[in-house]
Amino acid sequence: MSVPKFHDLSFYSEPSAHRSRYANLVKSFRANFSGDEIEFLARSPGRVNLIGDHIDYNYFPVLPMAIEVDVVAAVSTNDSDAIVISNTDAEKFPKHTIPIGKDSDFAINREQHSWANYFKCGLIVAAKFLEEKSTDIKLKGMNITFSGTVPTGGGLSSSAAFCVASTLAVLYANGVENISKADLTRITVVSEHYLGLNNGGMDQCASVYGEQGKALFIQFKPQLKGTPFEFPVKNLTFVITNSLQVSNKYETAPVHYNLRVVEMAIAGDLLAKKLGLQGMPRDSNLDTFSLRGVMDGYCGNWDGEDLSQGIANISKMIDVVEKTLTEKDGYNVEQCCQGLDLTAEEFHAKYLTKIPVKFEVLKLYQRALHVYRESLRVLKTLQLLSSPVDDDAKFFQTFGSLMNDSQQDLDLLNESSNAKLNELCSIALNNGAFGSRVTGAGWGGSIVHLTSIENLPKLTNSLIELYYKHEFPHITKDEIEEAVIDSKPATGSCLVSAEIVKKL
Ligand code: ATP
Ligand code: GLA
Repeated sequence: MSVPKFHDLSFYSEPSAHRSRYANLVKSFRANFSGDEIEFLARSPGRVNLIGDHIDYNYFPVLPMAIEVDVVAAVSTNDSDAIVISNTDAEKFPKHTIPIGKDSDFAINREQHSWANYFKCGLIVAAKFLEEKSTDIKLKGMNITFSGTVPTGGGLSSSAAFCVASTLAVLYANGVENISKADLTRITVVSEHYLGLNNGGMDQCASVYGEQGKALFIQFKPQLKGTPFEFPVKNLTFVITNSLQVSNKYETAPVHYNLRVVEMAIAGDLLAKKLGLQGMPRDSNLDTFSLRGVMDGYCGNWDGEDLSQGIANISKMIDVVEKTLTEKDGYNVEQCCQGLDLTAEEFHAKYLTKIPVKFEVLKLYQRALHVYRESLRVLKTLQLLSSPVDDDAKFFQTFGSLMNDSQQDLDLLNESSNAKLNELCSIALNNGAFGSRVTGAGWGGSIVHLTSIENLPKLTNSLIELYYKHEFPHITKDEIEEAVIDSKPATGSCLVSAEIVKKL
């Protein structure tokens, strides 16, 4: 299935609501590149994850959906040796020129945080894809203006939306008119790895595969794919609230996100060693055994489709973790070395150099338990969502409890929530939400709340009064409107023809 191309704005649920933004993008493009005309637009949305966080890089399935906030690139091509990127928000994202000819420099300076680095991530994977197709490629020069509505650091994957839109723009500019969703996902999943972030593949896959009105079941094994599905209950809706605590995933990676990747990799190897398992692929981002690989090695390969089998296997692994990872207060390096039969030098070289991290103890028990319990909840949620519903109240209660249990583990086992995020959840649960949880990486960012159409006004008003106005006494009406984000499941990545410019 190819990434679609639209000739109007019908991929939005309310096209007319987006016209002025597009008109502003066109104006900004013309001001940046006078005399130039837009040839096409490339767009990719943010996502909200309903359940299943910090498990994608262990290859367990997740349940997100693409949302209406997105990143749009307005593009023209030329024969110069440069790509010039500009932004409708020029103050935050100033203009940059990236040489692509013989002086080309796609190297990413990790010390210097810049939005151009994220563009380079998208450019690098696009260039590699073009090289796979032909050895003699000369990249087109491009003028681009971006417009983004996904809040940055809001846990809704602005970076994935931005990188995927960038890759799509570079590919189309260089003659790839039909790219499959599978290829666009496969190549962009690793784009942010060039920045040193060892993310899984959920965000890019959700951004690419999104469909209006549908959530997504994303699998990583046996192959990476997104399957859209509808909710079985009509009056269900979600509210997304940005806590306005910026989650700086990149700068805090050594103590937060990347540390989880490392802890889970060590937990995988330690479990494999203690269980006497061998022969599974070393498929984690650190070339170690992933926790999914350990499960498949111990219980037999799970095909990813048979939910009852998946539930049985994961339940077995929860037992194994309880019995095998005995250092409940955390492991120090010496204890890890003993368990893995490695010297301290070997341990450092294998686990602590490729991805730099900082820690006092490694909480292998807590992290592995989180992964298996969260993965179990994903399968139980999917079972619920794929069965007919005869009692709406019971449905909301069951779905809500799964989300609330997830939040509790994110807080206590994965330690990616915090007091403010917990407070947002509890305000919501007392005011009409059935379930509330941090979505995405955490350590700030957004909360997703499950509610019904009837409960929606009360829930939204309570969050405004009890969280936003209380925490931020000077907050404006516009800022509140921006913080309560449209949660309608939206169309995934797409190309838009320049015909729309005349229709705005
Ligand atoms: P999370 O991954 O937790 O969901 P996020 O993706 O929103 O959060 P980061 O991973 O910190 O946040 O990435 C944000 C970075 O992505 C910004 O600092 C910027 O460099 C780039 N970016 C995102 N949106 C835009 C945009 N509209 N224009 C330019 N750069 C953008
Ligand atoms: C970030 C990463 C994803 C995923 C989530 C947590 O959004 O980019 O790959 O790991 O955190 O579920």
